[in-house]
Amino acid sequence: MKMTMKTPLVEIDGDEMTRVLWAAVKETLLEPFVELKTARYDLSVTERDKTCDRVTHEAAAAILKYGVGVKCATITTTEARLKEYGLARLYPSPNATIRAVLDGTVFRSPILLESVKPAVATWTEPVVIARHAYGDVYKAAEMAVAGPGKAELVWTGADGSEKRVTVADMPGGGVLQAMHNLDASIESFARSCFRYALDAKLPLMFAAKDTISKTYDGRFREIFADVYAEYKDRFAAAGITYFYTLIDDAVARVVKGRGGMLWACKNYDGDVMSDMVASASGSLAMMRSVLVSPSGAYEFEAAHGTVQRHYYRYLNGEKPSTNPVALIFAWTGALSKRAELDGLAELAAFARTLEEAVIDTIESGWMTADLQPLSSLKPEKALDSWAFLEKIAERVRTTKR
Ligand SMILES: NC(=O)c1ccc[n+]([C@@H]2O[C@H](COP(=O)([O-])OP(=O)(O)OC[C@H]3O[C@@H](n4cnc5c(N)ncnc54)[C@H](O)[C@@H]3O)[C@@H](O)[C@H]2O)c1
Repeated sequence: MKMTMKTPLVEIDGDEMTRVLWAAVKETLLEPFVELKTARYDLSVTERDKTCDRVTHEAAAAILKYGVGVKCATITTTEARLKEYGLARLYPSPNATIRAVLDGTVFRSPILLESVKPAVATWTEPVVIARHAYGDVYKAAEMAVAGPGKAELVWTGADGSEKRVTVADMPGGGVLQAMHNLDASIESFARSCFRYALDAKLPLMFAAKDTISKTYDGRFREIFADVYAEYKDRFAAAGITYFYTLIDDAVARVVKGRGGMLWACKNYDGDVMSDMVASASGSLAMMRSVLVSPSGAYEFEAAHGTVQRHYYRYLNGEKPSTNPVALIFAWTGALSKRAELDGLAELAAFARTLEEAVIDTIESGWMTADLQPLSSLKPEKALDSWAFLEKIAERVRTTKR
């Protein structure tokens, strides 16, 4: 008897190798055990093109409506992709669109293995990154200018008032960029970080560069301090701390530390640092990633991209050894959140079993090519993605729940 679900899970399909693996994960590890109930949105680049990107906005709205979504990796369009797929135009990154709608914070933590030691020898616990998912360079306006001139930043208030500041008197051509953030978004970012730190009992560090960016980063620092006032007593009771530091100091502390902390990063820092933490912990594919909105909606995803090079090999008839772990953990995260919200204990137990089966399979020496050179088990060969999924399925089938 398969397990049943109550509320549909918002399923967002994507592109290239991750789309191929998405179908394989469902077929091998989910559908044999669970009567999946999903509201499916196809965010492949061709479908986004066909719908003028409407489907991305519909998917984001569905996550707000149902509360939990799971997303495959998607192509962010570029000139090269426009030609490759014959697209009508360039579209914004689907992740940026969804993050802007959900206005959330992305929490990313490495999936640790006994047999893969992190590149940073002192790390014994995960470094969890909280990435602000709204604004900054991801919603910036940019301009290239051909010759000398004056660049100004102008704000026109709703009441018609004006603020103006000179950016630069430019002696020649160059490039300009203006970005923004909103107090309300920074505040909800801060609040979700304090809440997550309390739930996970992790000390929290927020880092920016307010010595240089006195107004912009200074505002982030102030808002974090204000929100912390509400959490101070609960932090003390939980035996955890909060502090602010400069981003360069934060990097030094993380690299010298033992992990076991929540590091709150502005949008761009979080983008870069989460890849650094993922790679230093083993592989981009060994990372959990979840976007949490202030209204309590969750989007689980793989932190890596569509693994384009492997896809071209797949199209050539090869069976690549792409690591599906982050995709599987996106599904288990989403299913266990759905189980928690709908009171489905059996589904929650299944999600736990599947995660344990993944870890046990790797710790028994069966893994994909990205982990093989890192593993202390020194396996003779790596499995292709399909053989790896089958090894996991064998374990799930034989585990008592
Ligand atoms: N979350 C997302 O939707 C997301 C994130 C990043 C990039 N992208 C898109 O993905 C496409 C490819 O981008 P990219 O090549 O820069 O990033 P990528 O993460 O797909 O791949 C970068 C490299 O990391 C390794 N890698 C990543 N995931 C792996 C896995 N599961 N198993 C084994 N190795 C893995 C591979 O060596 C690969 O060459 C682009 O079109 C980009 O727009 C999407």
